[in-house]
Amino acid sequence: MIEKLEKLNSIAISELYKTSDINAINLWHTKHLGKKSHLMAYLRNLGQLPAQDRPKVGKLANEIRYKLENAYDEHKNTLVSQPTTTNKNSIDITLPGRPINRGRLHITNIVLRKIYSIWADMGFQIYKSREIETDELNFELLNIPKHHPARDMWDTFHTNTPGVILRTHTSPGQIHAMRTYCPNPIRVILPGMCFRYEQITARSEIQFNQVEGLAIGTNIRFSDLKGTLSTFAQRIFNKNTKTRFRASHFPFTEPSAEMDVECFLCSGKGCGVCKNTGWLEILGCGMVHPTVLSNGGYDPNKHTGFAFGMGPERIAMLKYGIDDIRYFWGNDLRFLEQF
Ligand code: PHE
Repeated sequence: MIEKLEKLNSIAISELYKTSDINAINLWHTKHLGKKSHLMAYLRNLGQLPAQDRPKVGKLANEIRYKLENAYDEHKNTLVSQPTTTNKNSIDITLPGRPINRGRLHITNIVLRKIYSIWADMGFQIYKSREIETDELNFELLNIPKHHPARDMWDTFHTNTPGVILRTHTSPGQIHAMRTYCPNPIRVILPGMCFRYEQITARSEIQFNQVEGLAIGTNIRFSDLKGTLSTFAQRIFNKNTKTRFRASHFPFTEPSAEMDVECFLCSGKGCGVCKNTGWLEILGCGMVHPTVLSNGGYDPNKHTGFAFGMGPERIAMLKYGIDDIRYFWGNDLRFLEQF
């Protein structure tokens, strides 16, 4: 009797560990611990055994029942917690795979690369200048002395070190480039991040890109500036884009101008984007001021040059009809995935 019970136990245990899914383990439970199982039959019929055997057999049968129930619980838990991939029947190979999200360029980078390639075609090299500048380079050497009211055009982030600031425009790069190449001719663009201590609104951000341009030579005239910048506008927008130059003022250029392009949404008729003027302002420019030329090491009697500064985010806004500059830093995929 005792031997029979022990055999029953070892068979049940070895069969238990062969089960590899929930269905099989449930069948196992019915077979070995269910009402109709051999073990239950032993327990039910204990009364028919000779009195002296009853306690021993009863004790063993109950122990086996207890052990099997525990082993069953444990094995069932491991089956449930196992990843379904180990469970052959649960893989549906006909299901489509999970789509992989592909990265893409940020809209600013798309426009920047376009700008780089247009200027590269016209012989302009990229000159990378620093984002942390001195007051001297950002202002003074650009003909903007301390306390001059023109400084109001650029609200500045100062650092804890006196005289060290975050550049408010890419124009200090003009001085770096001039001091690098003087007395040779220059044709460079200077792209990069600028910072201004301003209220963040739909039209202004505290952090944005600029692309500065600088051409220096011996016979460069205002007509060169106009022709070069008009060509740029036609290539970044479309070949029928009309441009106009309005007189303006920057301390580091003389004469200074702002270039407008004819509004391509309404073709100059007037709409919400161009505020009914028919024109959109896209950059500031001018002939390099003689003081700035000599600060860069050039002789203003021999050399002349032109400079310009444009905002790629602004160009992107015009080109793609984006009405709020805050989207550029918002990290909202619904916006970023449109380009
Ligand atoms: N630095 C000027 C600005 O930030 C733009 C500019 C650059 C104007 C070069 C003229 C020449 O607005």
